[in-house]
Amino acid sequence: MPDRNHRVVLCRAIEGVPQPEDFRMTEAAVPEPAAGEFLVRHRYISLDPYQRPAIAGRYDGAPLGAGDMPPAETVGEVIRSRHAGFREGDWVRHIGGWQEYSVCDGERTFVVDARRAPLSAYLGVLGMPGLTAWASAVKLADVQAGQTALVSAAAGPVGATFGQIAIQRGARVVGIAGSEEKCRLVTEEFGFSACVNYKRPTYLQDLQRAVGEGADCYHDNVGGQMLVDALGVLKPYGTVVLCGLITQYNTPDAERQFSFNLGLPIMKRAVMKGLVVYDFEPQRQQFFDELAPLVAAGRIRFREDRVTGIERTGEHFARLMRGENVGKALVVLGED
Ligand SMILES: NC(=O)c1ccc[n+]([C@@H]2O[C@H](COP(=O)([O-])OP(=O)(O)OC[C@H]3O[C@@H](n4cnc5c(N)ncnc54)[C@H](OP(=O)(O)O)[C@@H]3O)[C@@H](O)[C@H]2O)c1
Repeated sequence: MPDRNHRVVLCRAIEGVPQPEDFRMTEAAVPEPAAGEFLVRHRYISLDPYQRPAIAGRYDGAPLGAGDMPPAETVGEVIRSRHAGFREGDWVRHIGGWQEYSVCDGERTFVVDARRAPLSAYLGVLGMPGLTAWASAVKLADVQAGQTALVSAAAGPVGATFGQIAIQRGARVVGIAGSEEKCRLVTEEFGFSACVNYKRPTYLQDLQRAVGEGADCYHDNVGGQMLVDALGVLKPYGTVVLCGLITQYNTPDAERQFSFNLGLPIMKRAVMKGLVVYDFEPQRQQFFDELAPLVAAGRIRFREDRVTGIERTGEHFARLMRGENVGKALVVLGED
């Protein structure tokens, strides 16, 4: 039985873009499960953009300060159980946080099956980001064969999965991403028809050229000026799925400072739909049963951006929030 649990906590309340020095590692005794609980040894910790607004208190709960541990989904093994529904040796996904071990009462906990998919995929393409992408492509945008679909942050888990589901449905898909490396991944590995690097000076012309006659739908992971530019290439009556606002997560004031001319969606007769992934929780099994065979067959692919060791969690999160991750950001603990 292990006796020490390493966890990563904030050194202070964070302003702006997180820095590796904003986090430190602490240790405490491994917690004992009480009756009705079980102890999980984490193998993977998921780092996700929502953790930044969660740290700032703009997601769910109060702002985090010195000594507080950010939330995170984890995949791990039940190593001690006093819960009738979970056995030692089960692998589970739950909200375990930035630490090596957690005690869980079974709330919002799912047993995962390594025979159906790699365990880490339950945090990415077959986890919350994948469900988000599926909800957008299938339920909200309802992408159809012959359409053109546009998506930002296209190399990340939500964007890449959205695009590949749209391709499976017969659409032509154009991505937007922040480097040549990401654009190559999006076209060569994920099969998008084109990917535009928004950091190039010719971005707007490149976008216009890549989209051609116009986009039938746009999945927005970013907000801000990128949303405005995408509306510019949307077809009349096109659909915009508003999913993420990563341009604002590090700079809350950006929300107030950014002015958005609502004349643009009016002129486009755009249909704009907000997406909250938790609304689609009841359809998680349907999503999984549709996507898992496609992932197993290599028809939907995924890329992971991994580091190993709990002590690297803060640094890896800072990298994600600088937009430098290429694929799903994960921390691996122990033997992979
Ligand atoms: N509504 C919901 O229920 C829901 C659920 C899940 C996720 N989301 C949102 O979906 C979006 C994508 O999530 P994901 O998990 O797939 O993450 P991700 O793509 O790995 O997110 C990070 C990427 O965002 C891009 N980015 C654009 N502007 C940025 C900026 N100012 N600062 C930092 N990064 C920037 C970067 O890619 P580039 O280099 O290509 O710009 C970066 O690699 C996020 O906004 C997330 O919050 C929403």
